[in-house]
Amino acid sequence: MKKLLTMLALCAGAIFAADGAGVYGSKCAMCHGANGKDTSLSPKPIAGMADTEAKIKGYKAGTVGGENKATMQTAVADMNDADIKAVSAFVSTLK
Ligand code: HEC
Repeated sequence: MKKLLTMLALCAGAIFAADGAGVYGSKCAMCHGANGKDTSLSPKPIAGMADTEAKIKGYKAGTVGGENKATMQTAVADMNDADIKAVSAFVSTLK
């Protein structure tokens, strides 16, 4: 049973990894808004941003960020490269 659950979890992970919109909804929308335009936390809207992938990797590595970078570092700490790529592609399509 435990093995089955682990396998299910792994499959779900693989599906969500390719689903940028899904990743965005569960990991970003609460702070950046459903359409990437919420600026109550982020200094500017992220909708349509082209270099999101580099930014997220930079936050993870601690080389990117402003005053509130700790918030973003925590938010993206557990993301893998596939998730980052997928969610970044999705962010670039937001208008
Ligand atoms: C807990 C709230 C929170 C979550 C969740 C969050 N962010 Fe952020 N995000 C912030 C804050 C605060 C900043 C500004 C950080 C700083 O001062 O550098 C920011 C900055 C950014 C920036 C840089 C914007 C700029 O002006 O350069 C990008 C890109 C970004 N976030 C994308 C994302 C993506 C994609 C996700 C989901 C994977 C996400 N964020 C999740 C709060 C959050």
